[in-house]
Amino acid sequence: MQTASQVLDRVLVLEMVRVTEAAAIAASTLVGRGDEKAADAAAVEAMRAALNELYMDGTVVIGEGERDEAPMLYIGEKVGSAPGKGPKIDIALDPLEGTTICAKAGPNSLAVLAIAEEGNLLNAPDVYMDKIAVGPGYSPDVIDLDRTPTQNIEAIAAAKGVKPNEIIACVLDRPRHEKLIAELRGIGCGVVLIGDGDVAGVIATTNPDTTIDVYMGSGGAPEGVLACAALRCVGGQFKGRLLFRNDDERARAAKWGVTDLDKQYDLTELAKGDCIFAATGVTDGSLLEGVKRRKDKMTTESVVMRASSGTVRWVKGEHRL
Ligand code: FBP
Repeated sequence: MQTASQVLDRVLVLEMVRVTEAAAIAASTLVGRGDEKAADAAAVEAMRAALNELYMDGTVVIGEGERDEAPMLYIGEKVGSAPGKGPKIDIALDPLEGTTICAKAGPNSLAVLAIAEEGNLLNAPDVYMDKIAVGPGYSPDVIDLDRTPTQNIEAIAAAKGVKPNEIIACVLDRPRHEKLIAELRGIGCGVVLIGDGDVAGVIATTNPDTTIDVYMGSGGAPEGVLACAALRCVGGQFKGRLLFRNDDERARAAKWGVTDLDKQYDLTELAKGDCIFAATGVTDGSLLEGVKRRKDKMTTESVVMRASSGTVRWVKGEHRL
């Protein structure tokens, strides 16, 4: 039998694009229709069917929620066509990252998937995570959640050889970020506010064309792990700290084996070892073009990347209608 590592290499890399393509195509029929739930359900169903075609003994470690709240692709669900026989693979997924974006036909909604050998992706509870991320090329630990936003910006600016007011930060547009946004603007930073979709927000720091230097603020912890899988492949730094609003969330974390509730996680603690990240655009965005329906065909754009080799493949698909 092939080892999980060989399977990651030879079999699953390109197969993963089929999975994210299927989810993106399904969600695309509902772009701009104002129905987040229906778009998400369509993506989930399509992604699950495509995952079940793959020869693997897969386990969803980051999914649509816990078993009692998500009928499909819940945390712990087994997927793949070879349970007990195939290579053991852990899967983090978000069939529709940016459900509201999709419903409103905004930018950067994606179908996203990351896989790794068993035990290599943090079983992140569905709580918020304080995040900070930069792209590749900085000395280690240029960012740190124990510093103030101003101190982080100063460190990034010094490393980049520019003034703090030349740094551009991406932040989710939320009332909880008012203080952060005011502090960043107070030191002259440009702040790119995004309505949703912080997986794309984090990945944007790795693409100089976006002009975004740093991602800051809190968003979903599961999305943090997915973003880390991508950064492991293309380079960059990420720090995350789980945020708990109540005892129920703390209990949920304990259930998934989180013992140190204040821990600052580094990139490689959230996604370690070899891992593969794949995404297909649902709507146009900074990373990928969305699904386009033409007269007799649909086009898709996807990216699949692997941490161990650093290979990044851009895949344009044409699908007959
Ligand atoms: P969904 O796809 O689940 O709607 O998540 C979108 C998103 O914007 C994530 O990218 C982000 O991590 C999270 O929501 C932020 O949560 P909130 O909307 O509660 O601020």
